[in-house]
Amino acid sequence: MVDVLVTGGAGFIGSNFVRWAHATRPDWRITTLDKLTYAGRLENLAEVMASPRHRFVRGDIADPAAAGPLVRQSEIVVHFAAETHVDRSILSAGDFLRTDVIGTFVLLEAAREAKALRCFVQVSTDEVYGSVTTGQSRETDELRPRNPYAASKAGADRLAYSYWATYGVPVVITRASNNYGPHQFPEKIIPLFVTNALDGRPLPLYGDGQYVRDWLHVEDHCRALDLLVTRGEPGEVYNIGGGNEVTNLDLTHRILALLDRPASLITKVADRPGHDRRYALDTSKLRASGWRPEVSFDAGLAATVAWYRAHESWWRPIKEQDPGFRAYYDAQYGDRRSPA
Ligand code: NAD
Ligand code: DAU
Repeated sequence: MVDVLVTGGAGFIGSNFVRWAHATRPDWRITTLDKLTYAGRLENLAEVMASPRHRFVRGDIADPAAAGPLVRQSEIVVHFAAETHVDRSILSAGDFLRTDVIGTFVLLEAAREAKALRCFVQVSTDEVYGSVTTGQSRETDELRPRNPYAASKAGADRLAYSYWATYGVPVVITRASNNYGPHQFPEKIIPLFVTNALDGRPLPLYGDGQYVRDWLHVEDHCRALDLLVTRGEPGEVYNIGGGNEVTNLDLTHRILALLDRPASLITKVADRPGHDRRYALDTSKLRASGWRPEVSFDAGLAATVAWYRAHESWWRPIKEQDPGFRAYYDAQYGDRRSPA
């Protein structure tokens, strides 16, 4: 059996990856290490919690006593754990530095002592490139992060690289574009807008709505990570993008059409500070290994909307009973009500 550590495996992408790997890799013994912050939900792992090939450990990646032994006994580490929401990083950046930078440092230090380690995947993001008005970001491009989340991830990305260059830790760095799919916390645009629209509530669109994101279905992301765990070159960076560049306004209209809700729900609100206009990735390096996105945006978005419609029991308690979510929502949207 191969000992695999997944950090942040109770979150959106991490839990999709754990379920994916559990189903497709019968020779993996998976340990999920997760602090269960507001974004980590044990129910995301319900399918695997009773499996003898999976164990869940609640712990903080920034705590060497909790994370160190787990890293040292692993052959593969897939490191998702992070604070991930740009808007929250703008409200308060401290947890982003602590988890995304220091937490990654703690894992990398332990990785230096992991005798059987053959791959440490640092799950980075296209946000590290900053805004790209034309063309597509390549792995060799300069990093120009422009918000505290992106800057924290850029720090972790380069720190991970330095542990390859300096100590030979077998680090593979991935930079993915915006993911969508089931189990995404309802603070990000797609689950927030779908669930607000289901309730007939306003969809708070920032600025002019002409910001562009490249949407990647989370299963296509999992397939790419699965490939890179075995075929990724240590010390290398791989972009992972869905090839679906869509403006936020277009995305919002698509969601409304899928739910048969009126465009009058769209409420233009004050813009996100430092809002990156566009992200776009050149994915030719990964495609040379045979990977292609398999989920079309039309089919993937329809399936995602259907998932939220069918899993109200997953998102409604978060939005309506979790005082933390209400406090965040008020802090984030309370003062923005004036039109952009
Ligand atoms: P998420 O916010 O849904 O989940 C993050 C998980 O990390 C949660 O389960 C949380 O409890 C856990 N966590 C947070 N701090 C921790 C700590 N100190 N110790 C242990 N666990 C901790 O995030 P996501 O959207 O699934 O993103 C996962 C990774 O993918 C992140 O590294 C993110 O930067 C990266 N990424 C995300 C996207 C995207 O579109 N969502 C795109 C590219 C890259
Ligand atoms: O690009 C990859 C990144 O994608 C990941 O690294 C991050 O972890 C992930 O959160 C995501 O960041 P974004 O900032 O792009 O995602 P978000 O869903 O917050 O916003 C997507 C776009 O929608 C962005 O242009 C801002 C806009 N938006 C977002 C929200 C929440 C709105 O217009 N209104 C909103 O209420």
